Amino acid sequence: MTESLNHAKNHAYVLGWPVKHSRSPKIHSYWLQQLGLSGTYGYIEVSPENLAATVSELRANGFAGANITVPHKEAVFALCDTVTAQAKAVGAANTIWLKDGMLHGDNTDIYGFAQNLTDFAPHWRTGQTALVFGAGGAARAILYALVSQGYSKILLVNRGLERAESLAAHWPHYVEALNWESGLARLPEADLLVNTTSLGMSGQPPLKFPLEGAKASLIINDIVYVPLQTDLLKQARSKGLTAVDGLGMLLHQAVPGFQHWFGKTPQVTPELRGLIEHDIPL
Ligand code: ATR
Repeated sequence: MTESLNHAKNHAYVLGWPVKHSRSPKIHSYWLQQLGLSGTYGYIEVSPENLAATVSELRANGFAGANITVPHKEAVFALCDTVTAQAKAVGAANTIWLKDGMLHGDNTDIYGFAQNLTDFAPHWRTGQTALVFGAGGAARAILYALVSQGYSKILLVNRGLERAESLAAHWPHYVEALNWESGLARLPEADLLVNTTSLGMSGQPPLKFPLEGAKASLIINDIVYVPLQTDLLKQARSKGLTAVDGLGMLLHQAVPGFQHWFGKTPQVTPELRGLIEHDIPL
């Protein structure tokens, strides 16, 4: 870690490997400025082998906390003194804060996911059946959010069925693991469809999934936000379905960390969304 890091109680960071692409500094700097607070938010690029040493150095110097991004969310979870029920359920922390010498960890992707849907498709809360693509860390947070919200049936579709089966085993009464073809056949049951895979991200192939037979009320949420308008969302809109992009999840997941570090509740406003959107290639 570099000596130029200026640790102080009102300094927060994003830790990742790589991390320079992260939009978190822009989000938190905007809020600090809007709220007239004197804290700072920067990034620290840290390799997996240096993560534990970096976190203990930050603790020793009294930092406010950090966002944690790929690939450190699971490793940092193990370094926390206490973790929230959400972090425990996902086995990963994306937000940490230091309070009274204790390092606390939370997983705010769950909150971010739910708030984004509440903003753009408030009726998502009344759904019963969800079709979720992908079985990685993001899917785990989303399954937790859906079960907590009252979804009684979650159809978990993944290229590798075994990975879907092992994730589904965490919620055996709610989640059914399926391969791609079986998932396609179950589309008519879905109230909500969520893409958590990397398909559709810039540089990746699109998620190809015909939407014929979907309920007219189906909500489609792509958690990808680069690009903002993925092929999946374009297809949803062309069929008159409700389409929700992933940017709001990124913005909302940042709120709880800011509250812990700087003691004020920031707002996800259209102005902030516009500012970050401006940086995202079409
Ligand atoms: P995250 O932690 O962000 O969820 P991850 O753990 O790398 O990321 O998971 C990526 C997800 O995208 C996985 O579900 C992966 O499917 P596999 O488990 O079968 O690998 C899915 N994914 C990535 N590339 C894919 C592709 N080309 N086709 C289908 N699924 C893909």
